Amino acid sequence: MLAINDYKFWLLMYRIFPKNIIDTVFTIITAIQLYLLGARYVLKEIHRKLSSKVRKLSANEPDIPDDLTDYVAVVTGGSRGIGLSAAKDLYRRGCIVIVTSSASSQMERDKMAEEAKESVKATNNSGNILVWPIDFREMSSVFDFVARFNKEYGSLDILINNAGVMFVDKNFTSDGFEYHYQINYLSHVLLTWLLLPALNKADKKGPARVVNVSSSTHYPRCAFLDDLQSQITPYSAFHAYAQSKLCQIMFTYYMANWLRSDVGQSYRVLINCLHPGVAMTGLYQYVWWVRLFPWLASFLFRTADEGAETVIYCALSTEIESSGYYYEDCSSLRSSKFSMNKIYQNRLADLTRKQLAKLIEKYNQTYPEYKVPQILAY
Ligand SMILES: NC(=O)c1ccc[n+]([C@@H]2O[C@H](COP(=O)([O-])OP(=O)(O)OC[C@H]3O[C@@H](n4cnc5c(N)ncnc54)[C@H](OP(=O)(O)O)[C@@H]3O)[C@@H](O)[C@H]2O)c1
Repeated sequence: MLAINDYKFWLLMYRIFPKNIIDTVFTIITAIQLYLLGARYVLKEIHRKLSSKVRKLSANEPDIPDDLTDYVAVVTGGSRGIGLSAAKDLYRRGCIVIVTSSASSQMERDKMAEEAKESVKATNNSGNILVWPIDFREMSSVFDFVARFNKEYGSLDILINNAGVMFVDKNFTSDGFEYHYQINYLSHVLLTWLLLPALNKADKKGPARVVNVSSSTHYPRCAFLDDLQSQITPYSAFHAYAQSKLCQIMFTYYMANWLRSDVGQSYRVLINCLHPGVAMTGLYQYVWWVRLFPWLASFLFRTADEGAETVIYCALSTEIESSGYYYEDCSSLRSSKFSMNKIYQNRLADLTRKQLAKLIEKYNQTYPEYKVPQILAY
């Protein structure tokens, strides 16, 4: 098991066998790993439906504040699926929610916001849903978003890093990174980092919260820290997705430690991550059996609203008082051994720092009034 999760093994295989054969074998092995895990998680979904012991959130939970007047939240990828459900739940409680979408037309985004609001019976009229553009394939659009946010709001209570893609073909962004890596991981690190001053300005009862929506698919895989962009090792969409989700968890742990350091202590922020459950959403558009049997998937999976429960729990529950935890079904759980390895976390942080250093510098020069610290430096 270790060998097939080690990038050196695949480099060796490239030297012995033809490239196309190794590429196919790698895809098959990683697909099997993820489908086996998927089968286990579908069983977990059935258990959840039948069990009274798994926590399910109702509209009024004592540990989840119901009045979010004056709260501001950002939910990435809130145009549909789990993000949309989380955004609607926050709005219902009176929160101003800025949802991000890669939809390029203003009319389309305004329509999304109106439809989302119309579908909710708000218990508190102080809320709003706005849809602002970010395309996570372009780091510059993260800059534009943060600049606009600082100008119009300046203070942020909740950041939900939810936008994501799954099992897309090998592709590189104009910033030079593999799609899963940049959209699911790197651009969200940049967004979180640039929003740190705004998060620090939130002055509600507790610290501001960052919630990273990751996935259980991280369990069977390791990150190829020497080849995160699949440039010298084979590409598999299964590996690329799982790796990006693993990186999100490792970044959560690293940042939680950073927030306890001398530099980080000045920021009053809690950061945690989670697996939302297997929810029937557009994420499964490239999964063959879900496309063939959507009725079966709808029967086995949870709904997007149910998928948003742990997101809401991590964003709001008063039970959560510290950073650096991984949650499933509103309870903390051990993530994979690889994700908890501090040496690997430090290496990923070093790489991330190098990948984003120039962008952070450029941002600090362009917006000196919103200066952020050097990324993840102790
Ligand atoms: N559903 C599940 O069973 C499941 C399980 C584990 C983890 N997750 C995680 O949960 C999160 C939400 O997934 P979902 O199931 O709700 O999926 P979804 O319905 O496909 O929603 C994905 C969201 O990401 C946004 N997005 C995609 N590409 C983007 C880009 N380049 N730039 C900006 N936004 C982009 C989409 O918005 P636009 O298209 O409007 O840009 C959309 O709102 C993901 O991070 C996923 O990995 C889901």
